[in-house]
Amino acid sequence: MSDKLWGGRFTTKAAEWVDEFGASITVDQQMAAEDLQGSLAHVKMLAKQGIISENDGQKIAAGLIDLQAQLAAGKLEFTVANEDIHLNLEAMLTANIGPVAGKLHTARSRNDQVATDFHLWLKHRLPHVLEAVSELQLTIVNLADEHAGTIMAGYTHMQHAQPITYGHYLLAYFEMLQRDYERFEFNQKHTDILPLGAAALAGTTFPIDREFVAAELGFEQIYHNSLDAVADRDFALEFLSNAAILMMHLSRMAEELILWSTYEFNYIELSDAFSTGSSIMPQKKNADFAELIRGKTGRTYGALMALLTTMKSLPLAYNKDMQEDKEQVFAVTDTILASLKVFTGMLQGLTVHKERMRASTERDFSNATELADYLANKGVPFREAHAIVGELVLTGLQTNTTLQDMPLAQLQQASPQIEVDVYEDLQADVAVNRRTSLGGTAVVNVKNEVARAKHILEQR
Ligand code: ARG
Repeated sequence: MSDKLWGGRFTTKAAEWVDEFGASITVDQQMAAEDLQGSLAHVKMLAKQGIISENDGQKIAAGLIDLQAQLAAGKLEFTVANEDIHLNLEAMLTANIGPVAGKLHTARSRNDQVATDFHLWLKHRLPHVLEAVSELQLTIVNLADEHAGTIMAGYTHMQHAQPITYGHYLLAYFEMLQRDYERFEFNQKHTDILPLGAAALAGTTFPIDREFVAAELGFEQIYHNSLDAVADRDFALEFLSNAAILMMHLSRMAEELILWSTYEFNYIELSDAFSTGSSIMPQKKNADFAELIRGKTGRTYGALMALLTTMKSLPLAYNKDMQEDKEQVFAVTDTILASLKVFTGMLQGLTVHKERMRASTERDFSNATELADYLANKGVPFREAHAIVGELVLTGLQTNTTLQDMPLAQLQQASPQIEVDVYEDLQADVAVNRRTSLGGTAVVNVKNEVARAKHILEQR
């Protein structure tokens, strides 16, 4: 017989290096607290239902509580020989309280046990993720508030398009993060389901009370199909997918921070605390942390792809393939929590070069649409107006003159509808402030949206 907890039907032992390949303890020891919590709820239920005696139940519970204390004190040492966190803790319990520990696994399998631990683990961390997203949102809103009227060039195709405000730009990220927040919030619904009681795959003959266990562990719902309970990893995939989208958002903004702190743009400057120097070039100030967040987006996508691929075509119910799930989720949790924290700090210490931002709209043609709209308002068909302004832009480029610098006579030559009031419309501030359509960049809109955003955050 092998010395494994499941070794009854085995005659020979596996080599240590083979055990090592199959073991997950190096990863799943992160779920030690959840495993003990799940076991405590289970044993309470077993005793309450008379499946084990009150006395045995108390002995086991006391042993588990003792392990909880040892875990908190950092005193537990796990071993690969015991494969995973479940078998490690059970072996420790047995060593501490003797063979009565063996009754803990009545009406339970590692399949529903691991699923329960994993659900609990994520259920406990999602609030931290939500909090970190909120923190970043708050930082963004405060910055948007400060810069509701800071004019800058808006881009499409990386070319100057129309003037906007920096506050409006920032609120675009607030909105993206708001959807990220809602996605993680929804993720809680699918994480908050109790698998325990499904046993290996088919349920159990013991008169268990799953509602009791759910209440003990604080689960909102219970899996209603035992096969689904042990085979479902959707909640983890949702989490990874939400994380991938979140990191995609962060990487876009990180890219802009990097680009905008270049000599060429010089729109912003990152604080020293969130920049690094060069070992050879003394003048350098690199946006390393923004780059690293952009870079870590890669591993986050990788984790999603890895688990999706692991789960693809897996027949029901539990398969050992699924042991690969936790490493991805644990690593991604660390990645997004750290990235959100760094991003928040980076924005809090940001210097915004308002004058430089505004100047970017002064010698360009980002007011060309204003002139076309001006003509359209005077009854010129928009397509015709577009062509007229296009020619004026061409002339401007050739003569190094902006539209607002062209004399009225020159403008009127292009179109007699143009009058002196056109110069008003050609100012970036005016262009911005006329965009009062819902969701537009006008300062009054941005201020309203800041208030709305603050209200959303206050409701949390
Ligand atoms: N370490 C395993 C995992 O993480 C626990 C479940 C093992 N169940 C089994 N039947 N081998 O998936």
